[in-house]
Amino acid sequence: MPGLIRQAFRFRVGLPVPAVTLGPVVTRGKIVELRPPVTADAAEWSRLVRPERDRLEARWPASELDWAARTSEAAWRDRCADFRRLARDGVVLPFLITVDGLIAGELRLDRIDRERGSAEVQVWISRAHEGASITAGALRLLVHHGFGERELRRLTAPIPAGDRAAATLFGRAGFRREGMLRGYRPNTDYELWSLLAADRPDEADSDLPIVSTVDVPGSGRGFERSSALQRRLHELVPGGAHTYARGSDQYPEDMAPILVRGEGCRVWDADGNCFIEYGMGLRSVTLGHGYRPVLDAVHKALADGVNFSRPTGLEVSAAEDFLSLVPGADMVKFAKNGSDATTAAIRLARAATGRDMIAVCDQPFFSADDWFIGAVEMNSGVPDAIRNQTVRFQFNDLDSLKLRFAESGGQIACVVMEAATALAEPEPGFLEGVRALCDAHGSLLVFDEMITGFRWSASGAQTVYGVRPDLSCWGKAMGNGFPISALAGRRELMELGGLNTESPRVFLLSTTHGPETVSLAAFRAVVRAYADGDPIGVMERRGALLADGVNTAARELGVEEFVAAIGRPSCMVFTTRDPDGRPSQPFRTLFMQELLRRGVLGQSFVISAAHTVADVEHTVWATREALKVYRRALEDGGVERFLDGRPVAPALRSLASPRQL
Ligand SMILES: Cc1ncc(COP(=O)(O)O)c(C=O)c1O
Repeated sequence: MPGLIRQAFRFRVGLPVPAVTLGPVVTRGKIVELRPPVTADAAEWSRLVRPERDRLEARWPASELDWAARTSEAAWRDRCADFRRLARDGVVLPFLITVDGLIAGELRLDRIDRERGSAEVQVWISRAHEGASITAGALRLLVHHGFGERELRRLTAPIPAGDRAAATLFGRAGFRREGMLRGYRPNTDYELWSLLAADRPDEADSDLPIVSTVDVPGSGRGFERSSALQRRLHELVPGGAHTYARGSDQYPEDMAPILVRGEGCRVWDADGNCFIEYGMGLRSVTLGHGYRPVLDAVHKALADGVNFSRPTGLEVSAAEDFLSLVPGADMVKFAKNGSDATTAAIRLARAATGRDMIAVCDQPFFSADDWFIGAVEMNSGVPDAIRNQTVRFQFNDLDSLKLRFAESGGQIACVVMEAATALAEPEPGFLEGVRALCDAHGSLLVFDEMITGFRWSASGAQTVYGVRPDLSCWGKAMGNGFPISALAGRRELMELGGLNTESPRVFLLSTTHGPETVSLAAFRAVVRAYADGDPIGVMERRGALLADGVNTAARELGVEEFVAAIGRPSCMVFTTRDPDGRPSQPFRTLFMQELLRRGVLGQSFVISAAHTVADVEHTVWATREALKVYRRALEDGGVERFLDGRPVAPALRSLASPRQL
């Protein structure tokens, strides 16, 4: 199993000393980082440490000063100056250990001797984190950095004699006891522990030396509680889930985790299993679960009240944010679900054109409402009159759309489509051709940006491909999981739902919860995150790494014709084929079963910016192991000997069979 270590080095230019932040590592679901105190001024220290102060208590002191003396603001100011000097001299490399952004202790390489390639490790940690895997995670980062970037060959650690917690910590990091250290400090005997670069535990083989097994993704705790909760859900909720795509029939039988929490790209289930998640809330989470800046914005909004009798200032700012992102749109209206937005676009298009028919591209999903559900297999309850008003055309096939226009006798109100999907990029001229056909026939062009928005670009596919729709519909990642969607478009169309019109008014997205402040605040924080960082670039890089790893493993195991990670790196899926090369639900189920067993939860490989290189490495390892089972099933000619329970079935099928309860 690959190790869980990961390192990100961020050099802040212009400081007297290169300021390196190590991490983060996710340990026990908490984000642990090593930050350079040389950049922290006294005020920052005070802000970070104050709230935790009472809980802080020193362990394994590196000096005679007690924790309180070390952490007073004045002492800190002096120590910062000291640190700067020492760090500049290259003798000390000091770090603060932060856990979820709060200081939990200190860790430093001291007495760095370049010639000998040696340094001493000093740990200060609050009692709350003493001996925990959190300290181990931080130590692991430092060890990596010391041997890697700093090219050290030997690390030593003086440990108070008999301190079991310290011995365990350093022992798990691979350090060995060398002997007693006499006279190191007055009044206490110390032991000397050391680790040579050559003896460094091999991360590729084992996670044991440092990271606690608690957080190693896997399903070793079984699915007993999840299965009981799932059974109860089936009694209470039709389908046992509030979204068909989340249903237990989409998972191997008795392996459908009921989740209790998530952080970053990790989720934990009712049995205590930890998984690396893919799909990320039906693609609604791009920044990771519990993304701190979004949570902070949400907390603030919550405290100020969430629903009022009149609009809030937040509605102005959120609309401004949105329209500055989407240059092709003049006006926007917010709602809660993507389906609200696409259905509103249809009503607006019908009102604007006086026509009823809709041409919908043959892409997977657009709305939970009748105009679209009438066109899928699971369409019971949708009147024929409505079904007949929706016609389908093929992506990248202009002739199929021309035919629909010709057949409709000028009755098509709008063309609804995604400008691209994970598996299909628009061919040159296709989107321009659709635009021209709409113009020629007096129809509106509606882009569904539900998936492409904030995954292709924060400004949507319309900006990536340079074709302006009349209306566009947004949702999913806009709120990093918080419920918010949007309809945006040309002013003269949107005003049909406003007051600046002589035309009969269109009832356009008017709902009780539409402007609820929490989701608007989340959206604004998402916009900021995309402006300040590059989540899309991260998703694309991590996705490409994952595709490379998965496809290399498949090739090396000789199953590349049967399993592959395909599609846009920020939005990938996996293919699963049977021995005849046909897409296969039983083989899909087997693959998912084997991934779940190894701590990877996903109906796809849709990634987020919270997936680290280590998460990807774990996934590749899990895939490789899963593929070994897959290959044996291929050789067997079927999954029977390997799959426990019935295969998954398409979410939108017409009958409950083959996964009827
Ligand atoms: C492309 C696309 N459009 C619209 C929707 C509907 O969005 P919602 O489920 O938020 O109503 C979805 C949902 O999966 C979607 O994938």
